[in-house]
Amino acid sequence: MAINYNERIPNNVELAENRRLQRALEAWQPNYMRWWHDLGPEGTENFEVYLRTAISVESDGWANFGYVRMPDYRWGIFLAHPVAGRTIAFGDHKGEPAWQEVPGEYRGPLRRLIVTQGDTEPASVEQQRQLGLTCPSLYDLRNLFQVNVEEGRHLWAMVYLLHAHFGRDGRDEAEAMLERHSGDPDKPRILGAFNEPTPDWLSFYMFTYFTDRDGKYQLASLAESGFDPLARTCQFMLTEEAHHMFVGESGVMRIAQRTCEVMNELKTDDPAKIRAAGAMDLDTLQRYINFHYSVSLDLFGQELSTNAANYYTTGLKGRYHETKIEDDHRLVDAAFPVPLVKGERIVVEDQPALTAINERLREDYIADCERGLKRWNKAIKAAGIPREFALPHRAFNRRIGLFANVAPDIRISPDGRVITEAEWTHRVGSWLPTSDDHAFVGSLMRGVVEPGKIAGWIAPPARGINGQPFEFEYVKFH
Ligand SMILES: [Fe+2]
Ligand SMILES: [Fe+2]
Repeated sequence: MAINYNERIPNNVELAENRRLQRALEAWQPNYMRWWHDLGPEGTENFEVYLRTAISVESDGWANFGYVRMPDYRWGIFLAHPVAGRTIAFGDHKGEPAWQEVPGEYRGPLRRLIVTQGDTEPASVEQQRQLGLTCPSLYDLRNLFQVNVEEGRHLWAMVYLLHAHFGRDGRDEAEAMLERHSGDPDKPRILGAFNEPTPDWLSFYMFTYFTDRDGKYQLASLAESGFDPLARTCQFMLTEEAHHMFVGESGVMRIAQRTCEVMNELKTDDPAKIRAAGAMDLDTLQRYINFHYSVSLDLFGQELSTNAANYYTTGLKGRYHETKIEDDHRLVDAAFPVPLVKGERIVVEDQPALTAINERLREDYIADCERGLKRWNKAIKAAGIPREFALPHRAFNRRIGLFANVAPDIRISPDGRVITEAEWTHRVGSWLPTSDDHAFVGSLMRGVVEPGKIAGWIAPPARGINGQPFEFEYVKFH
């Protein structure tokens, strides 16, 4: 099961044994490279980047760091090791052997799950393609590229499943992954958050904190799938995802730290003075949190969903840490509390647990988001600033589900109050990033590429990558 890097497509699935599949993927490969060239990170063809490349799917398989000329990164197909005798852990097929081939009756929904997941991967690369031009440091530039190449690999992971298990339709879907583009008015990416621009580094850290974390929860529930190749693929993808969320959490943390430093130096909490000193005021950071959190909540879908119930009942997509949950794993008679709007208030009502499966995953996600906020708040407190970030109410600024268009003229405030459209319009500028915020944050974005140097709006990291110092030459330009 070692990763074979001697083949055109590195893999640990013995691709060479399956000539047809190998040829099909080798035919897709040049299209992928063309896409990377056209819509991957801009102007990086000759950069040498200090990247990690997986040498095995074991937990120490990441020990391999070295310079890679960007387009020569070895994208490949890596599945976690199979578990002998693995059985399906939930739904109607609970206890049956996990499927090694796609069950005919679930072909359509399974393909849809894989396509929806796969579509997000190249989307984020497209969203982030300009960021390299304005990186705050070489360290950050390297992290951006690490995230980008791994999202590219995640596309490979899903495309492999489509090619290997879905025949002609799968090959068509694999092509379509390179034809839809983030923000394209005619052929947009499937999910809303993946069509939003990522115009600046604050958005990038927020995206990797909040939106990549949605990815973690989707992958974790697909890692429970009764379709074993999907489960094994997602297990390995999760190890890559962890780094993306680290980039986001530490990025926001470092910005907040720098802001606190400036506040202490100037002895002020006046946003205008903080901005004049070239740092991002905490109010602006909070507005970005509100935005990225709320669009990421939408990615979990409808609170009450028969599709989600069917994915669960048929064994295609489980809950987060399914096997660690103590219940019957069928949920036929179980209930789950779901928030909804009743008149002037948001109330919580028990709903069938099966239809509420999305909401349960969203709840796990929310708890996870809270953990990072606590760490950011601890850093702000340690700097002696009496101020805390908070997550807005889950009903705030939603475009999907029960809280989107509750009724004409009804909105939800960040603290979870049902308010009128008029109040919303009056106050939204203090809740969500304004055009002025975007312009200000944008004005701070200037590329800093000298080793050891860093932009004025962010603190250096506590430590470098793979034991290297911050001053290390993480990217070499030629
Ligand atoms: Fe990903
Ligand atoms: Fe990611």
